[in-house]
Amino acid sequence: MIVTIDGVAASGKSSVAGGVARALGMPYVSSGLLYRAATLLALEAGTDLGDAPALLQLLERSPLRLEPLPEGNAVFLAGPQGERDLTADAHTGEVDAGVSALAQLPELRGWVNARLRALTPPFVAEGRDMGTAVFPGASAKFFLTASPRVRALRRVKERLDDVDAVEAALIARDAKDRQQSQPAADAHRIDTSELDLPGVIAAVLAELER
Ligand code: C5P
Repeated sequence: MIVTIDGVAASGKSSVAGGVARALGMPYVSSGLLYRAATLLALEAGTDLGDAPALLQLLERSPLRLEPLPEGNAVFLAGPQGERDLTADAHTGEVDAGVSALAQLPELRGWVNARLRALTPPFVAEGRDMGTAVFPGASAKFFLTASPRVRALRRVKERLDDVDAVEAALIARDAKDRQQSQPAADAHRIDTSELDLPGVIAAVLAELER
């Protein structure tokens, strides 16, 4: 069983996927965290975010491990001194601003997708194109939306930033990610603007029980 939860930036996908996965007793996998980790490594190495061959070379010599825990995904980089947890560093404004450039490269999408398809079900997969490009045969698909203002207000609670600037950055990132963010024709769409987290999780679980 594979359940896909896609949606726009900061629509609550990770929290919803985590809650649904916990309720179902399975892990959830954040595809965005792999794009973020690759972007972080590239920024740190000074690799051009549009240079697919250089990025793939960098990733080949940087062993990443995604830990798909239901309480939150983490990503680690293996190194001579042991593993470095990249999770927090992958969620900065700098990574937010750069990740869409890397994510539009077909080679990098292939790199992420191959890792996801190598996982053994059951799991909940969360991202933009889980229900379309990556797992078109998933058992159930969801697509989350929310107004830009609501998403910005939620984000500001996590990272103490100016709400107007955060809203503008989210709108810009949605525009850059538009190509891979089209809902699957058979996805259940949920507008989370008026719902709290338990409400969205309950809506997904109710649909799964039908
Ligand atoms: O979901 P999250 O906001 O963490 O994703 C970070 C970025 O990774 C997105 O803005 C997008 O550029 C890219 N992404 C993608 N396809 C996915 C998941 C994420 O292109 N399935």
